[in-house]
Amino acid sequence: EKVKDKIILPGLIDCHTHMVFAGSRADEFKMRLAGSSYEEITKTGGGIYKTVETVRNKSFDELVNLSIPKIEYAISQGITTLEIKSGYGLTFNDEIKMLKVINHLNEIFPVDIVPTFLGAHTFPPEYKNKEEVYVDLIIDEMLPFIAEKNLAKFCDAFCEKTAFSVKQIERLFNKASSLGFKLKLHTDQFNSLGGIEAGLKYNVLSLEHLEVINKKDILKVSNSECVCVLLPGVSFFLDYGYAPARELISNNAIVALSTDFNPGSSHIASVNLIMNLAAIKMKMSFEEIISAFTINAAKALDMSNLIGSIETGKKADFSIFNTKDYNEIIYNIGKNLNCMTIKNGKIIYDNIQANE
Ligand code: NIG
Ligand code: FE
Repeated sequence: EKVKDKIILPGLIDCHTHMVFAGSRADEFKMRLAGSSYEEITKTGGGIYKTVETVRNKSFDELVNLSIPKIEYAISQGITTLEIKSGYGLTFNDEIKMLKVINHLNEIFPVDIVPTFLGAHTFPPEYKNKEEVYVDLIIDEMLPFIAEKNLAKFCDAFCEKTAFSVKQIERLFNKASSLGFKLKLHTDQFNSLGGIEAGLKYNVLSLEHLEVINKKDILKVSNSECVCVLLPGVSFFLDYGYAPARELISNNAIVALSTDFNPGSSHIASVNLIMNLAAIKMKMSFEEIISAFTINAAKALDMSNLIGSIETGKKADFSIFNTKDYNEIIYNIGKNLNCMTIKNGKIIYDNIQANE
């Protein structure tokens, strides 16, 4: 009776986040608004490096405490499953610390929090001119330890001029898949360097970003089971082009959406804003957007058998919206219409109100 006349969707899934972080990059945001580019800022030691420095200086407990309100906010939006990546530690100890924080958050919250190892986010400053030594550190030390302790489900990497080359990623993926990790890849965010072809060769679960994906690669990815995780918050926050969602969908690619919540390229925790951007800037239909945050996001996390739709045999995860018309969820800009979140059949957030 409480939820009569309300919209019930499968619990929302945020399948790509960097939500465990510390510190602010508001100064860089202002620099960018004054004309500097994200890549320029990264090249001069800011960007990811700045967050790496801050995260290294935080303890396990401090990182947990900084993350708690972020997860609570996610739950208040109807999110019942989310992925969080490491990648702001970039030393053995700090990457393990981040993964332990993510695993701990999964234990203390009722939602499912899936840990992804992103040691190959960028090269730490100590390894300037000895990049291969860092790749070796990941391959020989980090990955085997993470596999042995079962600290991550996925292994991700960032294929970009300022980060890892296709060759380095192939070296990493060979090892990661031999240890049993499923793979993901950040690619084609600023440059198209061959990451898509390499990812498909290694059977990645998902290719993420794809703002600058080319026509040839659109066809390749469309003929695969790989999920394209699009992150319009990045295009908005960095103010550049959006991923070609329509071309991907019309070629039958599987498209998911996510916040990419992080301090530098998408300081956006709001699922609603991402939905608004997908509709207005990427011309995705409302039905495509809802699928992209549910069934397709489930596939990007290799959890299609458990979540992403309301079906017998799947988890009882629901998000309930304070409206009779699902179009309102996306038509409202910057407003969270979720009023109840249910995980595994239990109410974990309740702000239910009468419909207007
Ligand atoms: O997904 N692409 C690289 N990594 C993150 C950004 C991280 C940062 O700027 O802190 C992303 O956009
Ligand atoms: Fe990301």
